[in-house]
Amino acid sequence: MVQAIALASRTGCGKSVNLRSAKASSSFLKIQSHQLHDLTIKRKTGLPIQRAGPFGGGRSSVSGHVATVFGCTGFLGRYLVNKLAQKGTQVVVPYRDEDEKRHLKPMGDLGQIVPMEWDLRNDEQIAECMRHSDVVYNLVGRNYDTKNFKFQDVNVTGAGRLAAIAEMLGVSRFIHVSHLNADVNSPSTFLRTKAEGEEAVKRAFEGATIVRPGHLFGHEDRFLNQMASYPLLWHVNHMKTKMRPVHSIDVAQALEVMCDADNTSMGQTFSLAGPKTYTIAQMLQLVEALTYNKIIRHGLNVPKFALKTATKVADLAWWPMFSPDEVEQRYHDDKADEPGTLGFADLGIEPDTLEERAILYLRRYRSNLYFEQPVEGSGMKLKKQRYHVVD
Ligand SMILES: NC(=O)c1ccc[n+]([C@@H]2O[C@H](COP(=O)([O-])OP(=O)(O)OC[C@H]3O[C@@H](n4cnc5c(N)ncnc54)[C@H](OP(=O)(O)O)[C@@H]3O)[C@@H](O)[C@H]2O)c1
Repeated sequence: MVQAIALASRTGCGKSVNLRSAKASSSFLKIQSHQLHDLTIKRKTGLPIQRAGPFGGGRSSVSGHVATVFGCTGFLGRYLVNKLAQKGTQVVVPYRDEDEKRHLKPMGDLGQIVPMEWDLRNDEQIAECMRHSDVVYNLVGRNYDTKNFKFQDVNVTGAGRLAAIAEMLGVSRFIHVSHLNADVNSPSTFLRTKAEGEEAVKRAFEGATIVRPGHLFGHEDRFLNQMASYPLLWHVNHMKTKMRPVHSIDVAQALEVMCDADNTSMGQTFSLAGPKTYTIAQMLQLVEALTYNKIIRHGLNVPKFALKTATKVADLAWWPMFSPDEVEQRYHDDKADEPGTLGFADLGIEPDTLEERAILYLRRYRSNLYFEQPVEGSGMKLKKQRYHVVD
């Protein structure tokens, strides 16, 4: 009641307030009341974060966080922005191309998605993008060189710059997305620079969280879609390379959970690979079974040196094709989780397997004759055992 009168006087209705109107508005005030557990004090900065509105997210909920997602215009970025906005986080979405951020706008309530133009080399623009944020995600990455940005510029210098500016502005959390196979001794420049990027981020931002996802699968992925798109006329490494594919939505969920889990995730490294390991051959069989398309024709195994020479020529084109560095990556088995790193279980997430979810992304490759066929009818059940590789 006292609160009602106080509110009324604050809103300029103090003179006319009477007990009946105060009673009427007390139900409104009940919705507005805050509990102690809605308040979080950020460990690094001591900043209070006040949650409000419906518990568990949804329309009109307010998580109290303001997050900047660099690299939001990419594949993983859209799922992360969606998860954050669903929970009522205000999300700053830095973009380079006007058209690349349009799909992000409807993911949050009005005013909750804030697009801002940026350039990786422009410190002022970067600072402007994170000035009001308490969490910064770095999803920026490229697995091929471009005319303007080399691996080093994007994966090391750029990552270090974002982390240093975040530290300078007093941001509470910096969450950097690297790669499961990041390794300073890797023959692949991409994976080497990803590992160097982790170090640059850790040096620049105290308590940075490093996330190492495996190969992501989902609607916009670059491996299930590639496998399903063409008949495979050639392959590398006799299709023996082992992968631990992970669902993009699980990784986005993990990144979202980390934003509130300071005690679990601050200063930690996470290995986020899928629960099962498959060879390329097994994944191709899975894709064939689910799409009813014959993908593996009498494919030729191309030796590494021949493919590298061919891709060096192809790399002269000004649009991204198949870079020599990607050839190296195709020979690289996915690493096991590094000791000392955390995983999905530490965030309370049970990751999906490829065979559980692949149909969502592969059904569109079926012909109309089989489009409605249930997964069981695709022969997948019979062959199921073959898809599980035990190392
Ligand atoms: N996809 C995977 O299978 C996979 C697996 C493990 C780790 N990762 C890592 O996860 C992160 C996100 O992956 P993703 O698949 O979402 O990548 P993606 O689709 O290629 O998106 C990359 C993002 O980085 C931005 N970017 C690239 N170069 C940039 C530059 N020079 N300046 C500014 N922005 C730049 C892109 O912006 P524009 O849209 O403006 O180009 C885009 O938003 C990356 O760090 C990647 O290395 C990915």
